[in-house]
Amino acid sequence: MKKVKIGLLGFGTVAGGTFDILKKNAKLISKRSGCEIEVAKVFARNIEKALAKGLPAELATSNVDEVICDDTIDTIVEAIGGIEPATEYMLKSMKAGKHVVTPNKAAVAANYKELTETAIANNVSFRFEASVGGGIPALTAIQEALSGNEFLEVMGIVNGTTNYILSCMQADGMEYKDALKDAQIKGFAEADPTADVEGVDAANKLSILMTLCFDKYVKPGDIPTTGISNITMKDIEDAESKDSKIKLIASAKLSGDQLEYSVKPVLIPNSHPLASVSREYNAIYLTGDAVGELMFYGAGAGAFPTGSAVVGDVIAISKTVNKY
Ligand code: HSE
Repeated sequence: MKKVKIGLLGFGTVAGGTFDILKKNAKLISKRSGCEIEVAKVFARNIEKALAKGLPAELATSNVDEVICDDTIDTIVEAIGGIEPATEYMLKSMKAGKHVVTPNKAAVAANYKELTETAIANNVSFRFEASVGGGIPALTAIQEALSGNEFLEVMGIVNGTTNYILSCMQADGMEYKDALKDAQIKGFAEADPTADVEGVDAANKLSILMTLCFDKYVKPGDIPTTGISNITMKDIEDAESKDSKIKLIASAKLSGDQLEYSVKPVLIPNSHPLASVSREYNAIYLTGDAVGELMFYGAGAGAFPTGSAVVGDVIAISKTVNKY
């Protein structure tokens, strides 16, 4: 059976989940893919923390080039997060002939063109399913099963932390700051949760969705964005009295030739399917000219759901790795 070697950059929440899934489901993955997928090396900035999280010492290195420049490694999973040095590492990996998989929405949204063009120029795959919607396989569906559609609208709850906070405030009467702390403990929030609560993370994801759905790249910073940090319990109660819920909605809609887009808190009537998306769950609600309306729903954050999407990309690439 062909052996495919993976290099992991980072050993945080998502990388840890990816590592565990590849180990736990190794047998069924090799049966389905026809490859033995092995994590060969892991770059960790804080080795002691990574070892404490269960990383075997023989795989660990604090020198990123030992992973990127290892000729035996086929695919790099970049999961250190942030725009730099993550983008630099991905570009370097592609130039070294390695396929790249990432859940890193900030880096993909900031440098979409350079990353995709560098992958093409170096004849390698670049996949980022986990960057939007955690475990929801929407990006692959948009690019494959739905690619015959002209998309008219995309509307999503794409940030688990803010949806978790709003749900806890609404269903449990929890204070904003307690709900945020809870989301951080559960591993949903970004290292700096300002990116979550101010809508920046959702804007990164909307930028990626717009590129794939409408072939239009908009820099995340150019998307009109309002977060949830000013939402009060009174706003939540007012929404309830109108038989609605407040949700942080990332949306883009074709209006004639123009694309209208924003990230902002929106009052969603309880009769709309997006109103029932609660806690860390995400949903992406799409309208295509042929398929009509459809909704993808699932866990939008967390080690295993996000790791599931990363592993799916790793498997898809492994099937194409030409090595026996
Ligand atoms: N901080 C992100 C969220 C993680 O809460 O959705 C998943 O992208």
